[in-house]
Amino acid sequence: MDQLPEELLLRILSFLPTMKDVVATMVLSKQWKSLWMFVPELVYDDSYQSIDYERFSRFVDRSLFLHEAPVIETLYFKLGQTCGAEDIRVWIRAAEKFSVRELHIKFVSPSDASPTILPRSLYTRCRMLVTLILVEAVLVDDVNCPISFPSLKLLHLVYLTYPGGDEFVNKLLSSCPVLEKLVVMQFPGDNVTIFTIRVPSLKHLRMLKPLQHYSDNAHGFVIDVPSLETLEIVDYTDGFCVIENEMPNIVRASIDCNQTHRGRIILSSIIMSVKCLFLCLPTSEVFSCMQDAYHVGSIFHHLVELTLCTCDEQWLNLLLRLLGDSPKLRSLRLIQVHNPCWIKPSPCWIKPSSVPKCLLSSFETLECRDYEGKEEEKELLGYILRNGSCLKKVTVSSTSTDSEKKLEMIKEELLSIRRSPTCQLVFN
Ligand SMILES: *[C@@H]1O[C@H](CO)[C@@H](O)[C@H](O)[C@H]1NC(C)=O
Ligand SMILES: *[C@@H]1O[C@H](CO)[C@@H](O)[C@H](O)[C@H]1NC(C)=O
Ligand SMILES: *[C@@H]1O[C@H](CO)[C@@H](O)[C@H](O)[C@H]1NC(C)=O
Repeated sequence: MDQLPEELLLRILSFLPTMKDVVATMVLSKQWKSLWMFVPELVYDDSYQSIDYERFSRFVDRSLFLHEAPVIETLYFKLGQTCGAEDIRVWIRAAEKFSVRELHIKFVSPSDASPTILPRSLYTRCRMLVTLILVEAVLVDDVNCPISFPSLKLLHLVYLTYPGGDEFVNKLLSSCPVLEKLVVMQFPGDNVTIFTIRVPSLKHLRMLKPLQHYSDNAHGFVIDVPSLETLEIVDYTDGFCVIENEMPNIVRASIDCNQTHRGRIILSSIIMSVKCLFLCLPTSEVFSCMQDAYHVGSIFHHLVELTLCTCDEQWLNLLLRLLGDSPKLRSLRLIQVHNPCWIKPSPCWIKPSSVPKCLLSSFETLECRDYEGKEEEKELLGYILRNGSCLKKVTVSSTSTDSEKKLEMIKEELLSIRRSPTCQLVFN
């Protein structure tokens, strides 16, 4: 092994789970003795091999102190709650010294523990940082604390607490002038009322807000991201949502909201450009809400791939409307993302008054997962097989043994009605 070039040995070392294993390689041979000091990726996990925290912290200090490589690419801390803010301060100084590009600070806390506050130095010293991933920490409380992330392109803010509230969030995001990708996962106790994302450089945004009922009308989020290309929103709160500018570059979007009006706001800001869309919207209140999912008369001019979640009782009506309003649609997937835990009334099939344009000119693939053998599913499959002029492939899958039998039953029928033998039918 000692004949291998050093670069390769360092690659091998970087596959070891933590820095502890890396340092352990020093006993292997003379060449290995100092090799660990040059690895570009350092992973420290204080739960690993259950050593006590004191020893862990001394180990981190020493290995960082002895590190010889001029640059550390990745510095990854996975910490329990015993970790002191003072330790993190020292380690962030090391991040500065080694011009760290990618920093992960992830706390794995028991729910009753009070989380650790990250030191101020994090916001000013890491000028070379390109990626910053923070999980379950507390950001500083002082909104006047200077913040500067001139190189930061990717930022994850996962289950963080913001003692500085909305103002701190605004300041943090406006201090990232080249940020391209942002992931925000909020939780109810995070002390943010309105989460505002106003980042002109942002291209990719994921925003996740778990189930939460607000008694006021003050909670919500505002986004103003005109360069956005991909958007994912999962929002199960009853807060508000404001989109301040058009997003003409949106190509992919995934919208999973538990309230129709919020879905409508988001949909109408991407309708003009979206090519691939995942949609799960509740429309169940009354039928007219279905009409409200987006403005009547709006056309999805560029939509080619649609995935629709069938957990809502009005999914079929929404689908028929989408088919009619998406003249370039090529592929459709029907899936059940959320297991509806209630017995939902089945939507009834109403044959469209005219065949949607996409079925005559562009529609090629249909995938129906979680087939249950319901009347409306059969009607829809039959309709698409009969009317789809350019259909290439239809896949129907079932997940339970009960529905497998039902799948057997419609096989023959579907095979007999397909228009062209070149259309492939797959059952599984
Ligand atoms: C929440 O944020 C506000 C500022 O918006 C601040 O005054 C308050 O102290 C914060 N509360 C907690 C519990 O951190
Ligand atoms: C959406 O979530 C809110 C807040 O938890 C809840 O009150 C509301 O009933 C949910 N709406 C739907 C349609 O599920
Ligand atoms: C379209 O589908 C419907 C329902 O399955 C069927 O009645 C109709 O004949 C089909 N149209 C054509 C042109 O095949």
